[in-house]
Amino acid sequence: MCGIVGYAGQNQAAPILVDSLKKLEYRGYDSAGITILNGELATYKAVGKIAELEAILPDDLNACIGIGHTRWATHGKPETRNAHPHMSLNISVVHNGIIENYMVLKEKLITQGYEFESDTDTEVIAHMLHHKMNADNGKRDLLSVMKETIKCLEGSYAIAALCNDEPDRMVFARKDSPLVLGIGEDGNYAASDVTAFLKYTKDVIYINDNEIGTLSSDEINVFDLEGNSLTKDVETVEWNLEAAEKAGYEHFMLKEIHEQPTSIQNTFAGKLLELEGNVRLDELYLSKEQIKNLRRATIIACGTSWNAGILGKYLFEKLAGIHTDIETASEFRYGNPVLCGEELTIAITQSGETADTLAAVRSSKSYGCRSIAITNVVGSTITRESDSVLYTRAGPEIGVAATKTFTAQLITLYMLAIYLGRSRKVISPDDAKKLIISLKKLPGQIQKILNKKDAIKECAEQFADKRDYFFIGRYLNYPVALEAALKLKEISYIHAEGYAAGELKHGPLALITEDTPVVAIATKGHTYDKVLSNIKEVKARNANVIAVADEDDTEIEKYADIVLRIPTSHEMIAPVLSSVALQLLAYYTALARGCSIDKPRNLAKSVTVE
Ligand code: F6R
Repeated sequence: MCGIVGYAGQNQAAPILVDSLKKLEYRGYDSAGITILNGELATYKAVGKIAELEAILPDDLNACIGIGHTRWATHGKPETRNAHPHMSLNISVVHNGIIENYMVLKEKLITQGYEFESDTDTEVIAHMLHHKMNADNGKRDLLSVMKETIKCLEGSYAIAALCNDEPDRMVFARKDSPLVLGIGEDGNYAASDVTAFLKYTKDVIYINDNEIGTLSSDEINVFDLEGNSLTKDVETVEWNLEAAEKAGYEHFMLKEIHEQPTSIQNTFAGKLLELEGNVRLDELYLSKEQIKNLRRATIIACGTSWNAGILGKYLFEKLAGIHTDIETASEFRYGNPVLCGEELTIAITQSGETADTLAAVRSSKSYGCRSIAITNVVGSTITRESDSVLYTRAGPEIGVAATKTFTAQLITLYMLAIYLGRSRKVISPDDAKKLIISLKKLPGQIQKILNKKDAIKECAEQFADKRDYFFIGRYLNYPVALEAALKLKEISYIHAEGYAAGELKHGPLALITEDTPVVAIATKGHTYDKVLSNIKEVKARNANVIAVADEDDTEIEKYADIVLRIPTSHEMIAPVLSSVALQLLAYYTALARGCSIDKPRNLAKSVTVE
C-alpha cells in the first residue's frame, strides 16, 4: 500500500518530495523516507508522521533529483529499517505493491552474497537491480536491468529507482499499482496519484501496466517490455485536491468499494497454490500435530469483523472439521467461557486496536489457548498479543464503514479454512483446488458488479425513503445479510435487520408490511429452495423483495420484485460477491438520503475504548 513520489528538475528535490509525500498522507502510512541524488545517494527515513522525517533532514541538502515513499506496512513492522527507500549500495528503490515471490528471490540473492536489512519484499528489487547492473563488468544501465528485473517479479508494483552512476534520471515501472507522471515547468514528477504533485502541475501522463521508462528534468521516455518506445498522451487533470484524493470518487467509501478487485488480489497474493490444491500460510505458527489435534476454535470479534467471523465458523466446520464458536468480544470478556489449552482463539479486527477484542483475547490466553490474529494493520496491538498473525493486506481504509477490509477478512478466512482442512485431510486437493480457482476469479467478478452498479443505484433510490429494511439469508448468506444490514444502518440511518431467513416466522414476520423492503440473498446453493420459500412468506405480507441472485438464475424473477444479478460462483465463495453488491446498495441509499457517508454520526473508525 502506501505511495511513491519522484522529482527531477531545476529546484531542490527534498522540499518538493516532502511536500508531495504530505499530499499522500490521506492514504494512511506509518513511516516515510526519501533518497536524493547529487553525486552520491543520500537516504533519510523515519517512522511516524512526515514531520518526523522532516526533523531529521539536514538544512544544507542540495540535489535536484530524488524519490520518496510513505509506507503502510505489509511485510515487516513499521520500523525505520523497513521504511523505503531500500538500498543496494549505489541503488535506491521505492515501491508500492506486493511482490508475491519475494521469498524465492530473497533466498537466491542471499546465496549470491546479499545481506538484507529489512523484512520487506521491496528490498529484493534493489538487490536484483544491483546484481544485474554489475553482471556485465558494470556496463549495464538502470533501465535495461529494471526491464530484466521486473520480468522476474510476480505481484504488483509501481517502482521508482535511482542509481548514482546515472545522476540525471530515475527509472520507473508499473504493474497493477498506480503510477502517474507530471510534466511541470521546472521539472517532472512521478507519483502514485496526482494529488502528490497537483500543486506543481496538472499536465499528466498515466503509466499503464507493463510500461517502463525514464524521467529526468526535461525528458520522459516510456517503453513497453520489448523496448519499443511509446507515444503517451498528456492529459490535463481537472480535479481539485480534494477530488484527487478520492481519485475522482465522491466518497472514500465508494473508492474503497471500487478498490476491492485489487485489495482482494493483495490479500491472497503469493498464497494460493492452485496446482497443489493448497494455501501457503508460512506465518501460521501451528505444528502439524497441533493442527491435527485441534478440537475447537473460538472466533472473537466486533461489528463487521464479527459478521466475517460467522462465515469463518461455517468454513472451519465444513472445510476443516473443527467445531467453532463465534463470540462477540464485548460479551465474551464478561462471560464464563469454558476453554482449555488445546483450543484455538481467532481474533478478527481490521484495526487491531479494538479494546473489547483485545480484552477478550487476553482473557482467552489466560486459559492457555493459542491465538491467531486476523488484522489489516501491521504492528497493531493485537499483533503483539497473538501467537500468529494473518495480515489481510487490504490497504488503509479511510471510510468509517468497513468495506474492503471486510472482504479481505473473508478471503483470509477462506485461506485459513482451506489450509487447516488440507492439513487435517478433511478436504481433498481437488475440492481445495475448486475453491482456489473460484477465489482467483473474484477480482474479475467483482469488477463486473462494479461495472453494473447503476442497477443497484436505481434500486437503492427506489427505497431510500423507507424507515425499515430487512436482509435475509441462510447458512453462508446469513452473515452477508447481517453485514448488509449493518452497512445500511450505519451510513444511511435506516433501521435495518439482518436475519437468518428461517427465523423470520419466529417473530419478525410481524413487522413485514408493504413498506418494508426485504433483501433476500438467494445465490444458488443447498439452501436456495428454502430461501425461495422465505421469499414467499414475505411476499404474502406484501413486502417488496429485492433478491441478490446468480446471473444465470432463471427462476428467481418469478419470486422477487427486483433482482440484483451477480456473477455465478462457487456456493461457498458467492458471499464475497453478494457483499460487494450490498455495500453498493447501502452506499447509494445513503447518497440518496444526503448522509455523511465517510463519517457517519456517532461512529469512529477505531474503537479503542470499552
Ligand atoms: C462497521 C465497522 C465496525 C467495526 C468494529 C470492529 O463498518 O467498521 O463495526 O467492524 O468496530 O472494528 P475492528 O475490526 O477494527 O476490530
